[in-house]
Amino acid sequence: MNNFTFYSPTCFVFGKDTENQAGALVKRFGGSRVLVHFGGGSAIRSGLIDRVEASLKAEGLVSFRLGGVKPNPRSGLVYEGIELCRKENIDFILAVGGGSSIDSAKAIAAGTVYDGDFWDFYSGKYIEEALPVGTVLTIAAAGSEGSPDSVITLEDGMFKRGASGDAIRPKFSILNPALTQTLPPYQTAAGITDIMAHLYERYLTNTPEVEVTDRMIEALLLTMIHEGPRVIENPDNYDARANIMWAGMMAHNNSCGVGRSQDWNSHNIEHELSALYDCAHGAGLAVTLPAVFTYVMNHDVMRFAQVAVRVWGCQMDFAHPEVTAREGIEKLRQFFISIGMPRSFAELGAKEEDIPTLVHSLCYGDGRPGTISGFVTLNEEDCTNIYRLML
Ligand code: NZQ
Ligand code: ZN
Repeated sequence: MNNFTFYSPTCFVFGKDTENQAGALVKRFGGSRVLVHFGGGSAIRSGLIDRVEASLKAEGLVSFRLGGVKPNPRSGLVYEGIELCRKENIDFILAVGGGSSIDSAKAIAAGTVYDGDFWDFYSGKYIEEALPVGTVLTIAAAGSEGSPDSVITLEDGMFKRGASGDAIRPKFSILNPALTQTLPPYQTAAGITDIMAHLYERYLTNTPEVEVTDRMIEALLLTMIHEGPRVIENPDNYDARANIMWAGMMAHNNSCGVGRSQDWNSHNIEHELSALYDCAHGAGLAVTLPAVFTYVMNHDVMRFAQVAVRVWGCQMDFAHPEVTAREGIEKLRQFFISIGMPRSFAELGAKEEDIPTLVHSLCYGDGRPGTISGFVTLNEEDCTNIYRLML
């Protein structure tokens, strides 16, 4: 196991009706003038924004609204938010929604207190300082409610890139599983896929002797395999949604990723798809993961065989571990299909003739060196082959 520092100071408030504590929590973490930042309308329609604003008002806090965050959030609204925060002396940002609203809130939080262009952080600069951020989560998926990360698309060039810094870890996150009951089945399934991808990206490691985090990841994957189909079958199943919501947080606050190298090539490969085609990130991952894993499997076939046996119940073929490894990848693919996720480029709305564009942006876009690195280092030819496997 490698040396590590794990710093995760977010206060999680979990359960029914917890959104009504938003005002008290903002106050506890020092906010007085609050930007309420949300998406395209689901949180308005459900009455959630009204409830959250009422709770802010009850604590004597002043609030401002900025809605309209799109899935795969864009830079334009971030610039608008930064301007608004400066103009109104906002001192706390409350994201109400999913990963997109939370990531946009984090970008505004970092950009407001920074002299330069906020995009510097998405080109590799570490975020040292930001306004405090809190979240009210409405979809179990991205894990942004407990992560130090944010992913934004720069409209000039449509580069989808990530930024990081402990300063943007939420001060608090309110997780009420009942709020996810209004999700369309496709979004629920995309969330399940993303959570499983966060676990797999950590499982694919080159660090030996990481039994504790291996076992934690396996437990969370088993939970997703059990609870995923239950919630697809019955969207009102509160307990299944509760288990998925907490698994989604655990999958990405890095408690399962400490002390080990991680992959993230699949996420980078997928981000090009959601940047170009605006598909749901989880749906893109459902097509990407099996292709990447098939391509890189031989780098450490025993790792893929291990997850196949421990998580998917495959029989270990000691003479031919690659057979077991492949069986595990196939079970993962079939699982995604069974919950309603796409299986190919075409089902995602992606086009074969765009592969050179995708590969160029992936390997060279926004200053990249021609390769992407993770479990294995992939060059242009590798990435082309991987996109072709998705056809
Ligand atoms: O915009 P509204 O109207 O709210 O609709 C949203 C959106 O259309 C809808 N939705 C959310 N909660 C709902 C609901 N509809 C009905 N009822 C509810 N309770 O669902 C759609 C998707 O929302 P979004 O916030 O985009 O979903 P998600 O949480 O999957 O976030 C995806 C974004 O997070 C990034 C992805 O790349 C993508 O841009 N990621 C962020 C990470 C991080 N910050 O750590 C890590 C992830 O790997 C990921 O890359
Ligand atoms: Zn993800």
